[in-house]
Amino acid sequence: MNMTPKEIVNYLDDYIIGQNDAKKTIALALRNRYRRMRLSDELQEEIMPKNILMIGSTGIGKTEIARRMAKMMDLPFVKVEASKYTEVGFVGRDVESMIRDLVYESMNLVTKEFETKIQEDIDAEVIRQIMEILVPSLPQGATDNARESFIKTYNIMETKLLSGSMDDKKITIELPKRTHVEIIDSNLPMDMSAMSESLNNMLGKMNKDTIKKEVTIEVAKKLLRSEASENLLDQEAIKTEAVKRAQNGGIIFLDEIDKIATGNSKNQDPSKEGVQRDLLPIVEGSNVQTKYGQIKTDHILFIAAGAFHVSKPSDLIPELQGRFPLRVELNPLDEDDLYQILTNTKNSLLRQYEALLSVEGVTLQFEDDAVRAFAALSVNANEKTEDIGARRLHTVIERVLEDISFDADEKSGETIIVTKNLVHEKLDSLVENEDTARYIL
Ligand SMILES: Nc1ncnc2c1ncn2[C@@H]1O[C@H](COP(=O)(O)OP(=O)(O)OP(=O)(O)O)[C@@H](O)[C@H]1O
Ligand SMILES: [Mg+2]
Repeated sequence: MNMTPKEIVNYLDDYIIGQNDAKKTIALALRNRYRRMRLSDELQEEIMPKNILMIGSTGIGKTEIARRMAKMMDLPFVKVEASKYTEVGFVGRDVESMIRDLVYESMNLVTKEFETKIQEDIDAEVIRQIMEILVPSLPQGATDNARESFIKTYNIMETKLLSGSMDDKKITIELPKRTHVEIIDSNLPMDMSAMSESLNNMLGKMNKDTIKKEVTIEVAKKLLRSEASENLLDQEAIKTEAVKRAQNGGIIFLDEIDKIATGNSKNQDPSKEGVQRDLLPIVEGSNVQTKYGQIKTDHILFIAAGAFHVSKPSDLIPELQGRFPLRVELNPLDEDDLYQILTNTKNSLLRQYEALLSVEGVTLQFEDDAVRAFAALSVNANEKTEDIGARRLHTVIERVLEDISFDADEKSGETIIVTKNLVHEKLDSLVENEDTARYIL
């Protein structure tokens, strides 16, 4: 993760139109994570992350920015919805579970990194084990001749094995018998997940038995690989690194934070305020017990997002507001933005439809005028009914392409051109009528 803020913004630009302030703020926050991690422990302690609050109406890219960011980084990242939590002591998911989710992500990430590092060792070990089955070793005191032909056979077999040409051949492998209790639900109370962990350790130690399995070499490679990676990976080192990474580089995207704001409205919901109060220590910095150890949350970066249509940021309890010092507003999208989203983003909706239909042998082409019409009609529908931002593009395009998509299998080999006329023909009457627009688009 040593991308400069500019590089991060450039990357995001490939997928997200506009919203430059939000991109910049996020890029800076990420860079500061990286900068901080290079400092002495003492200084690291001092530098607190500046949490971000993203404000903007629905469908304009808040979650999308976070989603893209997550893909780009090798920092542990989870996206959670604030509205899904319930107050501690009530039935439901308590807020601490987001920290457990984060560590779980961190474990996955770090395990993958470690695996990549020892990939060669793992591969060599797997090949060694299969070769042992394929070519039984020489008896003691074999003659020179026997030894020579052994080496020859061994080399030929090994080349074949490595090339994959023997993948269909069946062999019998031996695997340790595992009685494994897999409990990964991070919502379990801490002591339960710790219990499942120690239970597994115990079972693992008790069980020295192996089972024999007849499988193809292809499958054997897979089974032996996961076995070998388990044996070769230094689990303790992974755990330590994963905890460290979660604590110092972890990012939690707290979506729909506006849904737990209460303010002074009449329908105040005490349980919402309870969730906010539970959130406070986590955002502020506290220790959360997870099955991989205790996590200090002081340096986890929180990015909260919400539409704040009904409530305002000031409807959050003041202590929590204060914990999100960086505010960015995302702008509503206009017609040209929507046009850009369709034409100027990687894997845009249009590219997705083209790809889907190409599976049926149908070549789909969009005339530029048609794409403009998609954007214009989307704005129109957003104004007439509810403003759902770029999400409107999905419904509008789906309407137009529905029939084409439905009998694409009969049109294999054809090129279908989506024209402006076709778009208007399918949509005009729907958009004009408020009721149909509301329910169908
Ligand atoms: N600025 C944008 N650039 C490119 N695509 C966008 C943009 N904004 C929205 N989209 C598209 O619209 C969809 C919905 O956007 P997103 O999930 O980011 O909404 P949101 O802002 O999080 O809204 P909500 O408040 O309802 O959660 C995305 O999947 C994406 O395809
Ligand atoms: Mg969202």
